[in-house]
Amino acid sequence: MCVSIKTYVQGGVATIEIARPEKKNALTMAMYTAMAEAIRAAEADPAVRALLITGQPGVFTSGNDLEDFMQRPPTGPEAPVFQFMQALTHCTKPVVAAVTGAAVGIGTTMLLHCDLVYVADEARLAMPFVSLGLVPEYGISLLLPRLAGHVKAAEKLMLGEPFGAAEAVEMGIANAVLPASEVLNHARRMAERFTQLPPTAVRETKRLLRAGTRTALDATILAEIDLFARQLRSPEAREAFQAFFEKRKPDFSTFA
Ligand code: COA
Repeated sequence: MCVSIKTYVQGGVATIEIARPEKKNALTMAMYTAMAEAIRAAEADPAVRALLITGQPGVFTSGNDLEDFMQRPPTGPEAPVFQFMQALTHCTKPVVAAVTGAAVGIGTTMLLHCDLVYVADEARLAMPFVSLGLVPEYGISLLLPRLAGHVKAAEKLMLGEPFGAAEAVEMGIANAVLPASEVLNHARRMAERFTQLPPTAVRETKRLLRAGTRTALDATILAEIDLFARQLRSPEAREAFQAFFEKRKPDFSTFA
């Protein structure tokens, strides 16, 4: 059991709550494993009609735990982060996200694998992979340009430009912006709507909606993981991570 991931099933909805507020909900390997297990359990439980992923007030998740990345970098498909990615992207039941606050890195990329996404008005989203010496992950290099166009994707992925809830809606990443105090209840109500619908029709519709990108998406996720794992071991990433923990600006001026 992982104390930083709370899971419970209520009224046909399986909730996965990321709960490590003292580290801004940064995701450790144990947390990825717990989330992957929770998704698989929800998938196998016929009483579950929808999943709801949420964070804490003010933070959805600050992405991968950077200390974990430095100490125990994921090397390939058996890594917990990859297990989580696979479980979510292949989940056949509807997944609703309540983005309760900051969503960084995989905190943002995982949203493109959810079916309905509601964002708190105060939330800031960012995919700062490049500034960490890394490359995009979780299929975002395929999905974001398709959704928002190349130049928008370049701004968010090459420059790592943060954005707000309204822009997330504009880009097609989220359905709606809600006051922070209402986002979780709203997302839950939307998840509960699936409990009133015929489950096979819902699942087949989800499959059809994803079918056009399925093969390319699976291949992109794998290709990104290879590059990501290589970059994680790079001097660029080492400098970026050290700078984060030393609370200073990274210095890439000497890199070729
Ligand atoms: N990994 C590990 N620790 C993290 C973390 C992460 N991804 N995000 C935050 N933390 C830790 C901080 O080190 C700090 O720990 P400390 O109290 O022991 O010093 C604590 O969480 C609070 O974070 P802080 O940065 O002070 O909060 P903030 O409200 O000023 O900023 C964020 C919140 C999310 C904007 C900021 O923490 C951030 O940018 N985090 C890194 C995000 C990131 O790069 N993720 C990886 C993407 S691949």
